[in-house]
Amino acid sequence: MNPWLHRIVSAVISLLLILQGGSALHINDSRTAEGSFLPGAVWNDTEGEPIQAHGGQVQYMPVPDGKGGQTCMYVWVGENKTGGHTGNPVAVYTSEDLYHWTCRGDVLRPLDSLDQIDSDPYFSKLYGDCTAEEKQHIYDCIGTHMVIERPKMLYNAASGRYVIWFHNDGPTEKNSYYYDIGMAGLAVSDSPFGPFRFEGRFRLSECPGGQIDCYPSSKGEARDMNLFADEDGTGYIVYTSENNKTIYISRLNEDYTGLSGSEYGVDYIRIFPGAMREAPVLCKAEGRYYLMTSSTTGWGSNQARVWSAEAIFGRWRNDGNPCIGRGRSVTFDTQSTTLFQAPDGGWIYGGDRWKGEDLADSRYVWLPAAFEDGRLTIRWEDEWKWEE
Ligand code: DGJ
Repeated sequence: MNPWLHRIVSAVISLLLILQGGSALHINDSRTAEGSFLPGAVWNDTEGEPIQAHGGQVQYMPVPDGKGGQTCMYVWVGENKTGGHTGNPVAVYTSEDLYHWTCRGDVLRPLDSLDQIDSDPYFSKLYGDCTAEEKQHIYDCIGTHMVIERPKMLYNAASGRYVIWFHNDGPTEKNSYYYDIGMAGLAVSDSPFGPFRFEGRFRLSECPGGQIDCYPSSKGEARDMNLFADEDGTGYIVYTSENNKTIYISRLNEDYTGLSGSEYGVDYIRIFPGAMREAPVLCKAEGRYYLMTSSTTGWGSNQARVWSAEAIFGRWRNDGNPCIGRGRSVTFDTQSTTLFQAPDGGWIYGGDRWKGEDLADSRYVWLPAAFEDGRLTIRWEDEWKWEE
């Protein structure tokens, strides 16, 4: 964007935030958190480096204990945006208390060049036995010129393996737009700390015959996405499809490496076709399913919306905006990416405060969330602790 245009757009956004009381949400950058959450401040890892886990997900899950067994820890997986918009490695951090995060490194790495598969032992070990055609395909999908966004991880107890699904995109011959491919990428590893092997990119469920398709010219698209494992271990992928017009939820197969099938209502559903939502987050609280989403305004924040349902493939109800208080109309200047429980059972909302002109400096905003009487609410705090 032209620098002057950018300044004007930023000034208008700031003015809008001030008019609706959002300026209070932008806190002093010089503060760094130590034993509390400081929404929107720089958040350093245990080595003093800013955490790079954007568009991510936090969950309490099994990880190797270093002695050949397993233990459980909080795992934060997300985009390492130090390289800018495209080719973001997927980074993993772990924590015991949710305040202090140890970097476990980039667990899924993009390729700088096709040659790197043969010249760099890290990649040769993963892809060295592939055919020339397969190597070219891997580079075409996860080269540093391609989009790797919103990575999410699940542990599959049956296989003992970890899967990462992510938004894999890029331009096509027809269109130089970064998001013309619209596919879901899959990578698998024996450890949450990698290395994850890229297994392919896929189109997902398609609008069934007899329903109004909001974008019939490009079937099975998958962009912003999230993963969810139900209490019985059934895995789901939730994603925006039909050119961002309709959210789909599709059931994963037993090892979470593909879809369970293609029967509408059994293997997948569409929710509120044409609603134009993205950044989906799916969770279950007190027996009810909740799906939080944002509108589609690029890196700019907008108003959140929640749907909820008794059954995942049942009837979803529009619950409206979950945010309360100042900043509610722009989700406290964030875009949804995760909802998870603290050790005491309290819920935490995690959102990205994107900085389009310097994506690596995008911030994390974690806020207290609550599920009461079948409704999700999220409120602003300048500084807070999950224990209080
Ligand atoms: C909004 C999405 O939620 C982000 O992940 C990213 O794709 C931006 N759009 C790009 O403008």
